[in-house]
Amino acid sequence: MADIDVLQQLEQTQQKGLNSLAGIASEEALLAWRTQYLGKNTAITQAFQSLGKLPAELRPQVGQTANKVKVALEAVLAEKTAALKETSLAHALATETLDITLPGRPLVQGRLHPDTQMLRELYRVFGEMGFQVYRSREVETDEFNFQLLNFPIGHPARDMQDTYFVEAGERGTNPIVMRTHTSPGQIHAMREFSATNPQNPPSVRLILPGMCYRYEQTDARHETQFDQIEGLAVGPGITFSNLKATLSDLARRLFGQQVRTRFRASFFPFTEPSAEFDVECFLCGGKGCPVCGGGWLEIGGCGMVHPNVLRNGGYDPERYTGFAFGLGPQRIAMLRYGINDIRYFWENDMRFLEQF
Ligand code: PHE
Repeated sequence: MADIDVLQQLEQTQQKGLNSLAGIASEEALLAWRTQYLGKNTAITQAFQSLGKLPAELRPQVGQTANKVKVALEAVLAEKTAALKETSLAHALATETLDITLPGRPLVQGRLHPDTQMLRELYRVFGEMGFQVYRSREVETDEFNFQLLNFPIGHPARDMQDTYFVEAGERGTNPIVMRTHTSPGQIHAMREFSATNPQNPPSVRLILPGMCYRYEQTDARHETQFDQIEGLAVGPGITFSNLKATLSDLARRLFGQQVRTRFRASFFPFTEPSAEFDVECFLCGGKGCPVCGGGWLEIGGCGMVHPNVLRNGGYDPERYTGFAFGLGPQRIAMLRYGINDIRYFWENDMRFLEQF
């Protein structure tokens, strides 16, 4: 009797399972159905578990029936699962639309740093004037940064350029320094060019751009890291007039024909005579402000290359003369764009950088 019950229960389970599946329309309901009919606690599992206790002749029939019911229910479950998936996809396709009129995310556009822009403009202007760019190193020896430029060891003029010394072991009187100016490049350049023809070195007209480092008290016009553009022209018969004309012309090309400039006598160990080159301050209109001080902004030093320096570069000062200058491109950019503090350049503040 009990055995007949098992078979009946199995048949009923199959019937009920098939019937109730027809009404299922969601994946959650299908999951519940699956637990109910194919889970751990169903007529099918019970039938399998009871097999051992049944009389031997009934076992095949009960086992086969349980198996048949299980296979049948699994088959309809698979069909239903596929059908539900298809319906939900069709629904999504019909109802969800892709709004292609929505504006895209803006791409942030990069740009060149104002200092780089200024340098490139200066390369262009100097290029028109016949100067070629010569690259020189940022880490120097004391010998090149000072000694070969006529600053002997212990010379008071070294105080003009507060220096970062690099720890590099015991190097006696020739420590390693972060270059304090681009002028040591003059020696590298002259040596390279004079080596090509030591008896008759070629004339040169060069600019040497790059970073310089000083242990400075920073303020609106001083930073511990700044660019310079060194200029160097060496040849037979070069005069101070050529220097004045070159820098005055540069100022006119950069700021227009009306710009006022001035040369002030000064001192550098590696030029003789020496001068400082000022441009009227556009930030205050020449009245005087925190950037310029007195209405004029010094944008560089200059002078005639000292005979010792020419000699150190392999040029005979009896036959060659030359002029040199060292400009501050960031000072020029400040005048150009109305930037009232040099410290903005390397602060990386987007509000500043995005204006260029
Ligand atoms: N090297 C000098 C400085 O940094 C500037 C300079 C360059 C002066 C060339 C004269 C000639 O202060």
